[in-house]
Amino acid sequence: MSSNPLQDGLRLEPTPGPTTLVIFGASGDLTRRKLLPALYKLSRGQRLPARFSVIGVSRDAMGDDGFRTLFRESLREFADVKGVPGEDAVAKSLAERMHYVSGDFNDPALFERVSAALQGINSEGGALFYLAIPPGAYANVIERLGAAGLSKAASPEQWRRVIVEKPFGTDLDTARELNQIVHRHFDEAQVFRIDHYLGKETVQNLLVFRFANGMFEPIWNRRYIDHVQITAAETVGVEQRARYYEGAGALRDMVQNHLMQLLSLVAMEPPIAFTADGVRDRKMDALLSIQPLVDESSGTTQVVRAQYAAGWVAGAEVPGYREEPGVSPASTTETFVALRMQLDSWRWAGVPFYLRTGKRLPKRTTEIAIQLRRPPLEIFKRVSPTSVAPNLLIINVQPDEGISVRFEAKLPGTRMQLAPVMMNFRYGTAFGGSVPEAYETLLLDAMLGDPTLFARHDFVEASWSLITPVHDAWSTEQAAAIPTYEAGEWAPAEADALMARDGRRWRTL
Ligand code: BG6
Repeated sequence: MSSNPLQDGLRLEPTPGPTTLVIFGASGDLTRRKLLPALYKLSRGQRLPARFSVIGVSRDAMGDDGFRTLFRESLREFADVKGVPGEDAVAKSLAERMHYVSGDFNDPALFERVSAALQGINSEGGALFYLAIPPGAYANVIERLGAAGLSKAASPEQWRRVIVEKPFGTDLDTARELNQIVHRHFDEAQVFRIDHYLGKETVQNLLVFRFANGMFEPIWNRRYIDHVQITAAETVGVEQRARYYEGAGALRDMVQNHLMQLLSLVAMEPPIAFTADGVRDRKMDALLSIQPLVDESSGTTQVVRAQYAAGWVAGAEVPGYREEPGVSPASTTETFVALRMQLDSWRWAGVPFYLRTGKRLPKRTTEIAIQLRRPPLEIFKRVSPTSVAPNLLIINVQPDEGISVRFEAKLPGTRMQLAPVMMNFRYGTAFGGSVPEAYETLLLDAMLGDPTLFARHDFVEASWSLITPVHDAWSTEQAAAIPTYEAGEWAPAEADALMARDGRRWRTL
């Protein structure tokens, strides 16, 4: 019997039936950086179906050989594995199963060619359409897939599914409209809206941590928890994405999707069973309990925004956001945002959730910190001069995946003196082996038809309905009013003030 839990797990893992992955946007950044390396790693782990193929679709004329070269190059650049990926047997065998169709997404003939390629390569199996294309093209491609008869399953084995990348809409109206277009051609069970945070190992572990243990859930409520802080800090700036980011900003880019997903997993009630809708129904309840972020009568928001100015990150001097290539010198796009959320539910009434995310912060780290209430009586107050720090439960989403608990201990010595200590669980040391990348998990789940880790249509809309009024409120404010923070510093005083009003502070990371 194997004693390695990872190997035991692997043996039980289901493998999808015959599948063709059709990637729209085959020459794009996402395909090269994430999708092709994820397929390669799945293949190395023998997780792909025995009958698996890829059809790349884009405007560039490159043919099968060109696409196979692009695949090998993407592995060399982005597959984080030892050796020379791209030249090994796994890569060679996978490359042989890659095909390419070029054309214009506006041209119905392209979809006929895709359909013919599918027939030729895998007429008996399922097809997964991946929209790795600019969001403006989603609706068009979905309509044309429908028109070409590619959205309908001819038999259970010949399933048809679609993966839609983020951003899903830019506000409530556009998200609703896109959902309507999608549902005109695909049933919800065929639709997989990606939020790559849900594929992260630690994020999935939140469910296990909460619902497979008897010890945490009893304290997971307003009686024991003082507040929750969720932080997603990045050191990178806008990079080469100004065209997208100028119209997005941190609230759309990170909060509407990733942070709302994290929040809902922390706040949800226990599902009756670990099924896709069991989990997603309870996440939805949590989302619906969040109170509006904009006060209707005064128009004030519980949201602080800011933009990075020039500064220093990791020893390098970096420009301010307004000086970045492609950014307007008068831009008011926020690169940092902090929010206070109130959930009106039996479990969370009176427990604020604070969220913050930003680019060009001093450290890359994503964590959920759950601060517990202090003990009812400070019985050591007289003997120990140091004040008692409240217990803290920290879920490190990345980069150092794990869970830590902070509690008070007695300092060794003849005096009764207290000090906080940490108890740490680290994925790397506990299990060894490497943790799959989010895109590996999510691609495999979509091939298996399991939507648990994907955003449902109502979640996306509920999230936008919280966020959109904030954008509306901001659009009426003065253009130049956005506060700034120095790149490499922890965000502006306004974010501290948001918590200070409640007598609380952000964690120092
Ligand atoms: C993406 C955002 O969805 O998530 C990026 O568009 C951001 O702006 C990225 O940098 C962060 O993802 P991760 O996995 O690095 O935390």
